[in-house]
Amino acid sequence: MTDLASINLVDSDTLECPFPAYRTLREQAPVYRMPQTGFWVVSRYDLVMEAVRDTATFSSQINQASSAGGHPEVAALFQQEGVPFASTLISADPPEHTRYRSLVNRAFTAGRVRGMQGYIQQIVDELIDGFIADGEVEFVADFAIKLPIYIIADQLGVPRSDMQKFKDWSDASVPIGLDIGKDAELARARLVIEFQKYFLERIEERRHAPKDDILGDLVAARLEDGRPLNGSELLSIIQQLLVAGNETTTNALAAGMVLLIENPDQLALLRAGDDKTMRTFCEEVLRLEAPVAGLFRVTTRDTVLGGTEIPAGALVNLRWAAANRDERVFENPDALDVCRRNAGAQIGFGVGVHFCVGAMLAREEMFLGFKTLLRRLDNIRLVSEADTRAHHANFILRGLKQLRLAFEPAEAARAAE
Ligand code: HEM
Repeated sequence: MTDLASINLVDSDTLECPFPAYRTLREQAPVYRMPQTGFWVVSRYDLVMEAVRDTATFSSQINQASSAGGHPEVAALFQQEGVPFASTLISADPPEHTRYRSLVNRAFTAGRVRGMQGYIQQIVDELIDGFIADGEVEFVADFAIKLPIYIIADQLGVPRSDMQKFKDWSDASVPIGLDIGKDAELARARLVIEFQKYFLERIEERRHAPKDDILGDLVAARLEDGRPLNGSELLSIIQQLLVAGNETTTNALAAGMVLLIENPDQLALLRAGDDKTMRTFCEEVLRLEAPVAGLFRVTTRDTVLGGTEIPAGALVNLRWAAANRDERVFENPDALDVCRRNAGAQIGFGVGVHFCVGAMLAREEMFLGFKTLLRRLDNIRLVSEADTRAHHANFILRGLKQLRLAFEPAEAARAAE
């Protein structure tokens, strides 16, 4: 366990492996004001649940990106050249949140995602076809990034040939939760403005020629008062679908491969197991390596959480990643267990009104992705162990920079037996 006084969750070594620090926080200070940043961190499962359900006290009306800085020049640049973002889903509270949420809920229901299985399977197979003959792959670039980005591009109804732009815009929009300095923030803002211009054009196209895709649905949608979404609201929703659906699923796929390689006994159980075991494995990946490590709320009034007083106006980070390893809820919490009975209690997709819109889609991408990779590749191994210890420096999202894997194609391996 780490010493409480030495804990600094935004320090680069701790970002790389935060789990011992989370344990100390859960034990000694489950509602903790970090002296280095001034914001609060909630790390115990029951307390994260309590806070997330009290949306009147723990409000989402903050700009996740600005929670660690926010230079005035960036706001000015948006004012001059871009479109100021409306507060829609992730940064809205009920009742405004409910209005927007009801419009996007229809996009990724369980039924709709079930209907997408064949289509997701096809993309998974095409991606594997692209590298299987090589016997090695940089898994992040050639599988984990492409799968979710192809799918969200198709769903939004924009060409896959624009994928690199998507990726750049998505990266520029990802909340970091660290002060990266004015120049870096301005560079990110310019990319976001490019994204806005691109989608404003696509929105105009849909207005003149309606299309049966999510973008078309959003342009045609009407709020309760009969008014259509304006450009700023549309951009805010599209940006969230693009960002929330990309980096997160990418990170889950890469983290899952590492967990499999590091736990050969569990891999054997998974290979011998059924679809239910595979679904449990997906929950375990989200529990152990929560790709969204934690998100901010701001307190609307003085409050008490877990016996600790928090003043009004405080930034509070609800740490899903720490709650997901709470020994009060999960037995032997640091271990991967593909037969864990309560794996589904993990809260990597959040809880309550903001529960992830894309959870069903992400689960299906993971399920079909891992299942097919294990069917088609044998003897999957790391090219360099160092890859597993190099995550992006990001306080909000946790993800590997790269993951070089070697393997034998399963068909060839069997034929040689
Ligand atoms: C493994 C992949 C994913 C993870 C771990 C994840 C995680 C999360 C979490 C923790 C939240 C809660 C936000 C909060 O409480 O403030 C959230 C919300 C959201 N997610 Fe995901 N997500 C994933 C994939 C996706 C996908 C594929 C999409 C879209 C296609 C998506 C779209 C959204 C949106 C729009 C919200 C905001 C919902 C709201 O505020 O009502 N996510 N996600």
